[in-house]
Amino acid sequence: MIFDTHSHYTDEQFSDREELLIKLNKQKNISEIITCGTDIPSSKECIALANKFPFVYAAIGFHPEELTRIDTDIPALRQLMCDKVVAIGEIGLDYYWNKENKEKQKDGFISQLNLAKELNLPVIVHDREAHGDTLSILKEYKPKGVLHCFSGSVEMAQEIINLGMYIGVGGVITFKNAKNLPEVIKAVPIDKILLETDAPYLAPEPFRGKRNDSSLILYIAEKIGDIKGISKEEVIKITRENAYRLFFEK
Ligand code: NI
Repeated sequence: MIFDTHSHYTDEQFSDREELLIKLNKQKNISEIITCGTDIPSSKECIALANKFPFVYAAIGFHPEELTRIDTDIPALRQLMCDKVVAIGEIGLDYYWNKENKEKQKDGFISQLNLAKELNLPVIVHDREAHGDTLSILKEYKPKGVLHCFSGSVEMAQEIINLGMYIGVGGVITFKNAKNLPEVIKAVPIDKILLETDAPYLAPEPFRGKRNDSSLILYIAEKIGDIKGISKEEVIKITRENAYRLFFEK
């Protein structure tokens, strides 16, 4: 039984999403999926999917990339709250795509961290080429949550864990240019790691560049197992328990 803690099944690449989700659950042992919103319409669609399928859960939020065209609307997010919403996400900072609106991104990130705290929900954090600002904001606001698609240093991973947060690991770990991620996996205890796909993006090797889905998480688990010297079954079991602790325990 496999928990995919990060995906985007509302993406337009998934025109077959309903059949696919059923297949993933029935034939591929995907027992839980969190699908993340990036704005209000996609967050609503995530909730609709979660309401339709018992094994699907929703994260709602404003992705930093969206903040070039829209503003963070906290009342609109608050209005969407329901039982199937298990996190505020995907939120954070992205200085790869946008360096011009750093202050707006930070304001949007912080207001959503405050909303998560008010609602007692974990956060799913995006950090692309914004390690310094992301870490200092997380240290100040101390949310519970996960740093998704972790791309920082071993030292940063240690700081994230010291804050009580989890490290999200996806397809990048299977890439030849994974940089310091294998070292991070070595240094981080397995009970602080979450498995994720970011589907339809970031498909692991040997499917890099293709459409990703939750079944390919096996390749990620296998790679983590190789690095840590444990079986992929153990990786899958322990990381699922981690996800339960973060997303389902109040
Ligand atoms: Ni994502």
